[in-house]
Amino acid sequence: MARAMWDSSVGKKTVMAVSGLIMLLYLIVHMIGNLKIYFGAAEFNHYAHWLRTVGEPFMHYEWTLWLVRIVLVVAVVAHATSAYQLSRRDIKARPVKYVHKKARSSYATRTMRWGGIILGLFIVWHILDLTTGTVHSGGFQEGHPYQNVVDTFSTWYGNVIYIVAMLALGLHIRHGFWSAAQTLGAGSRTRDRVLKTVANVLALLLTAGFIAVPVGVMTGVVS
Ligand code: HEM
Repeated sequence: MARAMWDSSVGKKTVMAVSGLIMLLYLIVHMIGNLKIYFGAAEFNHYAHWLRTVGEPFMHYEWTLWLVRIVLVVAVVAHATSAYQLSRRDIKARPVKYVHKKARSSYATRTMRWGGIILGLFIVWHILDLTTGTVHSGGFQEGHPYQNVVDTFSTWYGNVIYIVAMLALGLHIRHGFWSAAQTLGAGSRTRDRVLKTVANVLALLLTAGFIAVPVGVMTGVVS
């Protein structure tokens, strides 16, 4: 039953929709958390510390954080795997190759494919930058994310990488949210307009909310 579901295109689209919505939920929370940077170093660093102690004393130090990390890794892998397999299926289903290569995929398909690749690379960069500090520009300080964020957005390439990724994220969510709603059967003639509006508003809020952090550092409001 599970196997047949996974093998079907609808099954893979369902996996994409559900994993996408899980990541979307994470991003809404992450964006709101990031905006606390405007309340200063003490509050932002305190918030980061809280992320590690949530659920205590039932949970041990960092258990909740690790639970969230595991759910996210499963979601990312499931999302990327089904996207790859669906796109292979698309290509294979064509008995004859298109004469014009460019005409093979629609604008939306190409945006989602490239956007997904950009976001995948971004997540790796982002974790190496602000979680492990491996590629961080300044002296990375564990437990002091405020200073680490300021360091990142004090370099031109830090700003470019993050802003390009956030624009890709906005486009990805705009189309992805809409597709997920269709896959999960939320679409109907009357609801489609509402769903499109919700997709646009979500994409805009997330992009603007995330970009507000580098903008804050660049303008000197956050320093
Ligand atoms: C301007 C935008 C962003 C800023 C300033 C930012 C900031 C941060 C910071 C400071 C951390 C480390 C938190 C800590 O160690 O306490 C972090 C972790 C993380 N961020 Fe972001 N983030 C941004 C955008 C994003 C986006 C768009 C995504 C996903 C597409 C994302 C996904 C993650 C993930 C998965 C972690 C790792 C959590 C962990 O395992 O510790 N972030 N971010």
